[in-house]
Amino acid sequence: MSDPADIFNKIPELNHEETLKDVSPESFDNIINNRRSVRVYTEEKIPAEVTQKVLEWALLAPNSSNLQCWEFYWVQDPKKKAELVKALFNQPAARTAQELIVAVAKLKTWKPHRRQMLDLFNSTHQKIPTSARAYYEKLVPVVYNQGPMGIFGPFKRIFISAAGLFRPVPREPKSIADMRVWSHKTTALACENIMLGFSAYGYDTCPMEGHDSARVKKILGLGCESEICMVISAGKRAKNGVYGPRIRFPSEQFIKKI
Ligand SMILES: Cc1cc2nc3c(=O)[nH]c(=O)nc-3n(C[C@H](O)[C@H](O)[C@H](O)COP(=O)(O)O)c2cc1C
Repeated sequence: MSDPADIFNKIPELNHEETLKDVSPESFDNIINNRRSVRVYTEEKIPAEVTQKVLEWALLAPNSSNLQCWEFYWVQDPKKKAELVKALFNQPAARTAQELIVAVAKLKTWKPHRRQMLDLFNSTHQKIPTSARAYYEKLVPVVYNQGPMGIFGPFKRIFISAAGLFRPVPREPKSIADMRVWSHKTTALACENIMLGFSAYGYDTCPMEGHDSARVKKILGLGCESEICMVISAGKRAKNGVYGPRIRFPSEQFIKKI
């Protein structure tokens, strides 16, 4: 039987090589600097292909265990859109937006997605490393399953604390609260792709957590296994769309070299 540590440590013997596309730091710098939180948009529409492409880019974000615990609701129905604007407190960034996307973090899709991954492994002709198969077969169910109402949590806590005395152990997620953090982390990374994606096309965005999450969930027909990560509005900035120059505190305050 293979050592469970192999799942993390062993480098699989594969010769997969990616073809890298041309990039330039200059254009990335422009995309990053052009992205501002825009609160007032013009009437200019965004071509549907642009929003579609940006959403496809969202799905390419790195995500925990590749379990893709996210959903993105591109709200197109005018009635739903109006309800959503209301749930966003009618803020101008929502009210004047051409597009509204709700990013949803999913707490329980890891289960079917784990199955989907294993089915994919079984149906592909590509060589799947033993460690990858073991990861989804053995480790994922143990790590992410918190039991009904998080009942496994206290047992996990005791086990992890004891095992952690002697060696490094993965300590989270060990509660439903941890699962919320877990799914929001991944979903927020995809949100950044959306915002930078629109920026690359010359459109603007605003991320919004200023909303009534219960109402947003109701509009989308979502239950307690879903969490609203943020709503992203998009459009073309109006002259008064950016409220002021970008403010950031000195970088030494946040970048720690140790
Ligand atoms: C998670 C999150 C939630 C936010 N919620 C709102 C919001 O509800 N309304 C709003 O006008 N801006 C919102 N913002 C935008 C921030 O105020 C903005 O990013 C910050 O002031 C920095 O400005 P910049 O994005 O132009 O660099 C949010 C940003 C993030 C990351």
